[in-house]
Amino acid sequence: MITFEAKTRTFFLDGKGVTYAFFINHADFAEHLYFGKTIGHDDLSFTRASGSRSTIAKVPGHDDFSEEDGSYVQFPAELSFFGTGDYREPTLHLENQSGDRLTELLYAGYDLLPEKPPIPGMPSMTGGETLVLHLKDKVTGFAADLYYTVYDDADVIARHIVYKNEGAETVTLRRAYSFAMGLPQNDYQVLSLYGAWARERRIDKIPMHHGVISIDSKRTTSSAELNPFMALLSPDATEEFGEVYGVSLVYSSSFVLKAEGTIDGVTHLTGGINDFDFAWPLAAGETLATPEVVLAYSAEGLGGMSRAYHDAYREHLINPRYVKTPRPLLINNWEGTYFNFTNEKLMAIVDAVVGTGIDTFVLDDGWFGKRDDDSSGLGDWIVNEKKLPGGLKTIIDHVHSKGMNFGLWFEPEMINEDSDICRAHPEYVIRVDNRHPCYSRHQWMMDLTNPEVRDYIVTAVNKVLAENQIEYVKWDYNRNVTESFSKALSREEQLGFAHRYALGVYDLCERIVEANPGIFFEGCAGGGARFDPAMIHYFSQIWTSDDSDAEERTHIQYGTSIVYPLSTMSCHVSICPNHQTGRTTPFATRATIAHLGATGYELDTTTFTEEDKEAVKAQVADYHKMEKLVLEGDLYRIDNPMESNFFSEAIVSKDKTEAILVTYRRMASVNNQIKRVRMAGLDPEKRYEVAELGQTVSGAALMQIGLVPNWSGDFAAVEYHFKAID
Ligand code: GLA
Repeated sequence: MITFEAKTRTFFLDGKGVTYAFFINHADFAEHLYFGKTIGHDDLSFTRASGSRSTIAKVPGHDDFSEEDGSYVQFPAELSFFGTGDYREPTLHLENQSGDRLTELLYAGYDLLPEKPPIPGMPSMTGGETLVLHLKDKVTGFAADLYYTVYDDADVIARHIVYKNEGAETVTLRRAYSFAMGLPQNDYQVLSLYGAWARERRIDKIPMHHGVISIDSKRTTSSAELNPFMALLSPDATEEFGEVYGVSLVYSSSFVLKAEGTIDGVTHLTGGINDFDFAWPLAAGETLATPEVVLAYSAEGLGGMSRAYHDAYREHLINPRYVKTPRPLLINNWEGTYFNFTNEKLMAIVDAVVGTGIDTFVLDDGWFGKRDDDSSGLGDWIVNEKKLPGGLKTIIDHVHSKGMNFGLWFEPEMINEDSDICRAHPEYVIRVDNRHPCYSRHQWMMDLTNPEVRDYIVTAVNKVLAENQIEYVKWDYNRNVTESFSKALSREEQLGFAHRYALGVYDLCERIVEANPGIFFEGCAGGGARFDPAMIHYFSQIWTSDDSDAEERTHIQYGTSIVYPLSTMSCHVSICPNHQTGRTTPFATRATIAHLGATGYELDTTTFTEEDKEAVKAQVADYHKMEKLVLEGDLYRIDNPMESNFFSEAIVSKDKTEAILVTYRRMASVNNQIKRVRMAGLDPEKRYEVAELGQTVSGAALMQIGLVPNWSGDFAAVEYHFKAID
């Protein structure tokens, strides 16, 4: 519910268990007051700080204001601007025609909408009641609409800003972020998710300090290096206790998020599209919409914040067509064959899993163009009949004859120099004339800022999908942009390249993913290098990492779950020694860890013994039993593998009648200390049948005392299943 208290000019935005409040102060500035647990609608002016700040620049034209009440830099901001006394990181920085960079965006009214309108050209949360706060510069006419949406089923607020040039002259936006918000302290721990190829989303935690903590990407993708996410933990916050604020950006291109500890002892948050290598001319009458930021609040530690995001994204962001439906349980041939396959080999891989319950076969890279290794063929989305005589039909018919579905790999945004499309249309490549574009994995990138290039890709990919009976697509993206430049853009538009590329990606997704509602789409980016909220809108699951080693996966999946629901993580059982780490882990462990996501297999199944096949059959049956929990349940992280020898996670149904606990010990030792794993998230009052113990136990005992798993050997996993009785 959104309320405006006219007397105090305060907006109260009440979500499920949270209140967000700001007011229009004496200078007409939108001043942030509060984000946290639900509170009433009192006059909150008593919460404002006072005290003399003699060296500050007063609000222009308000010399009558007392010293302690008179500067923009003092007001916790909903949007901060530059040039009039506010020296914090501005939300907006623009250049007017004269070359001056002043803006003063002040209150100009509001609207309440029953439903949030979509953000043009960009994915965003669906949502209900929305406040649009209008701010305007009286001198130039430049304006900003700040959107706020509340949710009655998740502890989050969705925000974005639409910048509008309502003046007479073109302005250049040098920075156009999505939000600003003040937090009352500056002693937080700032948590971010960093990584690299094959070790995505590790957890970093550093203390807030005086100055700016910034995380960003300059890669024209959200990146494996830093996820577009930041959490601020109060000093006493742990996994399940204490206050935590989350900032998650629904965006897939170069971004920045900043937390600034000011001299006042508070924290100023802002961010959005990265303003490095950015400028956006806005002619009179034009607007620029910014990506959505989803702000979460938890009084139940980091775990509570994660559950808030999981609820919000499952209910309002992930493609509703697939979000809660059982996922394809697939066998993918990549690690089984790499580029080296024939129709016969693929059919044998399929035959080997018939009867196990695996229901989908995915043909990975190498089926098209001249593609026998990664040096050629990308962009030529025409089947390689030399490799696959009879076209895709032979393998597709075979897969269907076994009652299974067929999936196919694409990398639509890419092009190899050695491809027919590159020879015919060298101008489709992102490059600068007279310079040799950087290779990465021997490939170049398509200029998605050019509509003609997007049309080519849409036509080529959709043709394959229309001419073949395909139920599943894996959409890959294996390198980052270099030479950010497009011949299709004017000089003034070049510095908007990274954002325009993102708009191009979303346009492709609309015209390929949304245009093929019968096909299930999985995202991928050389593993998990574009695992972000905008992508999970289109791809309800994403290949989490090219590292399929079970031990490494405990880290990657733990970190990914900080923001993203388990059901968004594609997790495969692969062969040992593992192709990435060379490590050998038990087959059962690999399955148990892969079951904490959208599970599948990725190995040469023709080597299966009867025993292996029986094991797979049992694993698939086990997965189906817990699948609803993976798709809809509440996640409780119990042991962090980055901090200990153990990894434990529980998933509990919303009604707390069913749960599963996965516990894992990395290294075995002898005569070791007793390790108890305290269950979490159960109803203490309920009694649970614990299949593995052969007895019923109260939720209270399971959570207070815990279980004592009997792991055997290294990399061992033990599972427990809980069912409430009566
Ligand atoms: C990327 C993906 C892999 C596989 C290969 C194919 O690395 O992450 O899963 O599809 O490309 O080239």
